[in-house]
Amino acid sequence: MKQFKTVLVTGGAGFIGSHVIRRLLKEHADMHVVNLDLLTYAGNLENLRDLESNERYAFIKGDIGDTALIQQLFDQHDFDAVVHLAAESHVDRSIENPMAFLETNIIGTATLLHAAKNAWLGDGKDASNRCFYHVSTDEVYGSLGAEGVFSEETPYDPRSPYSSSKASSDHLVRAWHHTYGLPIVISNCSNNYGAHQFPEKLIPLMIRNVRDQRPLPVYGEGLNIRDWLWVEDHASAIDTILHNGTSGRTYNIGGLNEWRNIDLVHALIREVDAAMGRPEGTSLALITFVTDRAGHDMRYAIDASRIESELGWQPSIQFEDGLKETVRWYLDNAEWMDSVTSGNYQQYYETMYGNR
Ligand SMILES: NC(=O)c1ccc[n+]([C@@H]2O[C@H](COP(=O)([O-])OP(=O)(O)OC[C@H]3O[C@@H](n4cnc5c(N)ncnc54)[C@H](O)[C@@H]3O)[C@@H](O)[C@H]2O)c1
Repeated sequence: MKQFKTVLVTGGAGFIGSHVIRRLLKEHADMHVVNLDLLTYAGNLENLRDLESNERYAFIKGDIGDTALIQQLFDQHDFDAVVHLAAESHVDRSIENPMAFLETNIIGTATLLHAAKNAWLGDGKDASNRCFYHVSTDEVYGSLGAEGVFSEETPYDPRSPYSSSKASSDHLVRAWHHTYGLPIVISNCSNNYGAHQFPEKLIPLMIRNVRDQRPLPVYGEGLNIRDWLWVEDHASAIDTILHNGTSGRTYNIGGLNEWRNIDLVHALIREVDAAMGRPEGTSLALITFVTDRAGHDMRYAIDASRIESELGWQPSIQFEDGLKETVRWYLDNAEWMDSVTSGNYQQYYETMYGNR
């Protein structure tokens, strides 16, 4: 197992990044983490409130595309790993405003790669104990029909501005490995769910709207299929790959847990209604089918056998239990929900779904 002393985590104030930082600090007693995050609408320091007094943790507000800042951070800290999660992450927003996705996901990633190369390579330096880890998505592989799964050998076929920008950044990371010898790993993961996810994504959006008895916007006929993984299982997979993965290698991460959107919405209605003491089926009438997302990918499913056979990783939790726990967390943390939706969330929501 590799050891890392000082790790730069980008995007650590977001949904997955906050779980990754908490996991790394808990599992590795000697590790220091510097969290670089721009605090966009999706980043929230509330997600890391419990770590504020941890002396092995530091937060820096800044942009991964800011060359001078990134250079300064690499000069100041002898990072032996970068776990790169910072990104514009929502497909719908990428359809509305693709340029922000290209700036952060492509140029931002290249800026980090360039700084890591300058700091770690050349002049007889030994980079074998360093690692640049890019956290990516299964959406780079495109869309599946009724059969089949994405393996690490599946050709890239991204179809939205978001997935194209993530595919581009994956290619850049591999190019820095093949061209310059930068030690890298990449993982491509399916849809995550759990605490601290911004309520523009399906699960927290539906929990909030069932709670508040607002319409539940479902794209098309709700037949699109996603493979759902508990965010803490994603964090444990990232920890495993960072420490035990082979440099230059890609690992798919998934939950073997496919759900049609409409079935998931029904499950969430059941859970939230039950948790709020309402009779079963109370909120079914709130389901509102809306015009489908442009270019909506039909189905994603992951073959995660490589990470299981080579690194011994498996998801730890049954979806039904994870979903119950997730619903409980959002209902118990109404203040978090209210605070993250206090900005221009309502305006965004109306742009996407009309005044519902
Ligand atoms: N959510 C998923 O289901 C999922 C699945 C697979 C892979 N991923 C990938 O995991 C990563 C994290 O996803 P998430 O769901 O936690 O996203 P998120 O939107 O919740 O968080 C992204 C974080 O990045 C920060 N950020 C954005 N632009 C930045 C910039 N220019 N400089 C510095 N920080 C910036 C934001 O402030 C935010 O804290 C992304 O790279 C995403 O592509 C997500």
